[in-house]
Amino acid sequence: MNVIVAADSRWGIGIGGTQNIVIPEDRKYFRKMTLGATIIVGRRTVMDFPGQKPLPDRRNIILSRNPSFKIEGATVVSSVDEAFREIKQDERVFVVGGASVFRLFLDYCDTAFVTKFYAEAEADAFFPNLDELPNWVLRESSDVFESHGFRYAFHRYENLNPLQYTFEAR
Ligand SMILES: NC(=O)c1ccc[n+]([C@@H]2O[C@H](COP(=O)([O-])OP(=O)(O)OC[C@H]3O[C@@H](n4cnc5c(N)ncnc54)[C@H](OP(=O)(O)O)[C@@H]3O)[C@@H](O)[C@H]2O)c1
Repeated sequence: MNVIVAADSRWGIGIGGTQNIVIPEDRKYFRKMTLGATIIVGRRTVMDFPGQKPLPDRRNIILSRNPSFKIEGATVVSSVDEAFREIKQDERVFVVGGASVFRLFLDYCDTAFVTKFYAEAEADAFFPNLDELPNWVLRESSDVFESHGFRYAFHRYENLNPLQYTFEAR
């Protein structure tokens, strides 16, 4: 299982329900990485998707505690258990946020694709600081690019000891 996120220098990822830094190059990268895959996403982040609709050409699994929440073209689940039940062994899965959903699934992910901005923006939603988590190691970094006044790079982190999900354990 993978996680994909765009974070500023303090690992801030959002403000007021939307991303705190947006550049087209990151949007393109996100699209390229997730097309054809399954995404796991929180209900609040879906409300920030274009038209408040699931992302096209991807299988959308949306987390919500609201039993009457339904959305055409997506599977709604109400727990981590239920999300894992939906996923097949060999399915390519990306956890795409937001903050609460990242927290729920991070330990089960083996790879994190992080678009890292070398800038600080106002934020009220944060991603865990992978540089301070002993399990997570930075394996690959792109060159540093610049867009719309933001310097950024694409990083790949690896989880040295991802949790294996077992239904029996819960
Ligand atoms: N920079 C990035 O890469 C990036 C990516 C994605 C999102 N974001 C940002 O992250 C922020 C949103 O994060 P957020 O934490 O507020 O919202 P979120 O994780 O997108 O969604 C939260 C919702 O998910 C559902 N949920 C959470 N935990 C659950 C559980 N254990 N079981 C069942 N349902 C559960 C609940 O839906 P109900 O309320 O319906 O019960 C909850 O309100 C926004 O600012 C967004 O822009 C940034």
